[in-house]
Amino acid sequence: MKYVTEAFQTNWIAPLGPNVDAFEKEIAEKVGVNDAVAVSSGTAAIHLALSLLGVGKGDKVFCSTLTFVASANPILYQGAEPVFIDSEPDTWNMSPKALQRALQESFAKGNLPKAVIVVNLYGQSAKMDEIVSLCNMYRVPVIEDAAESLGSSYKGIPSGTFGIMGIYSFNGNKIITTSGGGMLVTNNKELAVKARFLAAQARDNAIHYQHSQMGYNYRLSNILAGIGRSQLEVLDKRVLERREVFKRYVKGLHNIDGISFMPELTNSISNRWLTAVLVSEEAGVTSSQVITALAQENIEARPVWKPLHLQPLFKNCKYFRHSETIDVATEFFQRGICLPSGSNLTIEDQDRVINCIKQITNKSLVMGG
Ligand SMILES: Cc1ncc(COP(=O)(O)O)c(C=O)c1O
Repeated sequence: MKYVTEAFQTNWIAPLGPNVDAFEKEIAEKVGVNDAVAVSSGTAAIHLALSLLGVGKGDKVFCSTLTFVASANPILYQGAEPVFIDSEPDTWNMSPKALQRALQESFAKGNLPKAVIVVNLYGQSAKMDEIVSLCNMYRVPVIEDAAESLGSSYKGIPSGTFGIMGIYSFNGNKIITTSGGGMLVTNNKELAVKARFLAAQARDNAIHYQHSQMGYNYRLSNILAGIGRSQLEVLDKRVLERREVFKRYVKGLHNIDGISFMPELTNSISNRWLTAVLVSEEAGVTSSQVITALAQENIEARPVWKPLHLQPLFKNCKYFRHSETIDVATEFFQRGICLPSGSNLTIEDQDRVINCIKQITNKSLVMGG
């Protein structure tokens, strides 16, 4: 309220102003990059990143398949063609093995992608070392979609800072929010300047309104940036709270056969934005039976993202599996559940979720599975 009130009192009700400047500076400091550009959504940030890399009609862009559609929609905005890459079991994120095959194949055909969009699912970082070094080998730039992983780290380095550009989302459901908003981060000054330019209708430097290039209306408002500044002050607390939620689920459910948790990669810290579990045969129930049982108790749980290569929108797009025989993302979709994970989830409410899962899995055991 302090930052928002200040914006009203000083009449900065615009997509620019002191809160925008300060929010950008504070995010850049927090994640250790040279520059940050506040925009109206994470999707807008991905779109700007693709546009800045010159992605256009007919180009290919590789993208993680196990993600929200917003990771790939901007590829279509640019008239380019997504190619989806499977997950691997250690992180549930982009499989370096599948990426390697995809790069090798496209190199052999003289058709390398213009960019690779790597998603950090539910707060867990992908294996960025392997992915970045593969992409460097082929000189393909990496855009890190860290919409869900602000506050996480990989080998001590903040999530979102590994590619040529990274993006965060401040959508209402994220670890911190501005109700709607996003940020593009980069160490490349030139890209940051150009991103600000494109996000503000690409207005040339003249006293009159002059435009030589197509732009977008993507800047974040000074009011929302005020919310973002105060939210950023509680980011570390939110990460701790979400990690506590995760720990309580583990404590409550670890004894149940057939329920396993999304792993945390050694040397990485996940913000545990969502606690995700896999249900296997030994549980005696399917993931959709668990979701239905929870719904009957008025508890909302969801399957993990439906992989993009399975979406009707992308039905003609190429897909590279983790291996010839294993399609990790599809299996996770069939077996995965995201449990209620809000940082304000009460212990009583969480116990209701845990007890419900215990009951349905027990029942199946009693009934002989
Ligand atoms: C992985 C991922 N990428 C991109 C986005 C898009 O962010 P926004 O909703 O701010 O446009 C989201 C979330 O909404 C997301 O979860």
